[in-house]
Amino acid sequence: MTDLFSKFDELIALREGLLSSGVTDPFNLVMEKVESPTVAICNGRRTILLGTYNYMGMTFDPDVIAAGKKALDEFGSGTTGSRVLNGTYVGHRAVEDALKDFYAMDHAMVFSTGYQANLGIISTIAGKDDYIILDIDSHASIYDGCAMGNAQIVPFRHNDVEALEKRLKRVPQGAGKLVVLEGVYSMLGDIAPLKEMIVVSKANGAMVLVDEAHSMGFIGENGRGVAEAQGVMDDVDFIIGTFSKSVGTVGGFCVSNHPKFEILRLVCRPYVFTASLPPSVVATAATSIRKLMDSADKRAHLWENSKRLHAGLRQLGFKLGTDEPQSAIIAVIMPDLETGAAMWEALLKEGLYVNLARPPATPAGMTLLRCSLCAEHSSDQVEEILGMFAAAGRATGCI
Ligand SMILES: Cc1ncc(COP(=O)(O)O)c(C=O)c1O
Repeated sequence: MTDLFSKFDELIALREGLLSSGVTDPFNLVMEKVESPTVAICNGRRTILLGTYNYMGMTFDPDVIAAGKKALDEFGSGTTGSRVLNGTYVGHRAVEDALKDFYAMDHAMVFSTGYQANLGIISTIAGKDDYIILDIDSHASIYDGCAMGNAQIVPFRHNDVEALEKRLKRVPQGAGKLVVLEGVYSMLGDIAPLKEMIVVSKANGAMVLVDEAHSMGFIGENGRGVAEAQGVMDDVDFIIGTFSKSVGTVGGFCVSNHPKFEILRLVCRPYVFTASLPPSVVATAATSIRKLMDSADKRAHLWENSKRLHAGLRQLGFKLGTDEPQSAIIAVIMPDLETGAAMWEALLKEGLYVNLARPPATPAGMTLLRCSLCAEHSSDQVEEILGMFAAAGRATGCI
């Protein structure tokens, strides 16, 4: 019998090698108590959270929590069914209305996760004889959506407009074309040149889908994302998003102005063949989304935090993923996995949690310490964070 697990041997050895050095497992942290969007108790110690996607700090918003509790009392703990059968409650409609208002778009379709939104929308609209032209650094859920639909996949170099144009021109005349982009790329925290990319996509007859998972709520005047910030909302055919980041709960969605969009509710398998989100989740999401429409002050503070952390880390001598802060994600580039893991552990001992990221999630084989800021981090907390980076960096020889 062939052991089906033998394909994991290399990864098992890598993990065992890392843990045998005595380092804490960076992929097994348990939060014993979560006190606020920015502080948790980990290993019995107060820890500042700088590795969540809670960009707008909505998880402890009193109105959001109250809406969730009310829905739990009034509608129970779950729907136990698909959206197309018994799984659509008034709350599901209400959150789709909130999304339509937030994005000023005609249609919104809510999925159980953002992963499923990409899986479902991409695999349903781009099938066997269609072409998907996508940035090579796209999220796993985008690649999985492509694979599920059996479309021809044509990757192009990260954020390279010329490469995109070249690939588009090679697609056979008359074939269906979908260009898939992300507003913010979550590993390095860099943004896409959407404006230029959309111009070449449209000139070559492609539809455009933009995943704004890491920009919703924060980037753009109304928090609609990078497409809004670059003035191209009207040229994007589909926006994909998630409730698991700025919205502060779980779920995913697609918004669009396409006149035939609603048919997707009947043909999109990851929408049809799974249970819908619990009533408490859609109630918290709807309340959060409506509050995010009116959060200009929070957005301004989050930009301040991002700029302060970026400048401070650079001043300390760390190598960063972007020359300027472009989003709420600041990536610190580590020379290798061992140093990255040692630095991650040293920061945890200082009382700071960040994400250790490694291939295949990261581009170009990089090991990263990813820092994600929150609008609820105070300026003092950002200074405290910089002090922790200074201490851990010196202790591990990173700076
Ligand atoms: C770009 C992007 N798209 C989609 C997702 C999936 O979101 P969810 O957590 O809702 O499944 C993520 C999650 O990290 C992401 O980074």
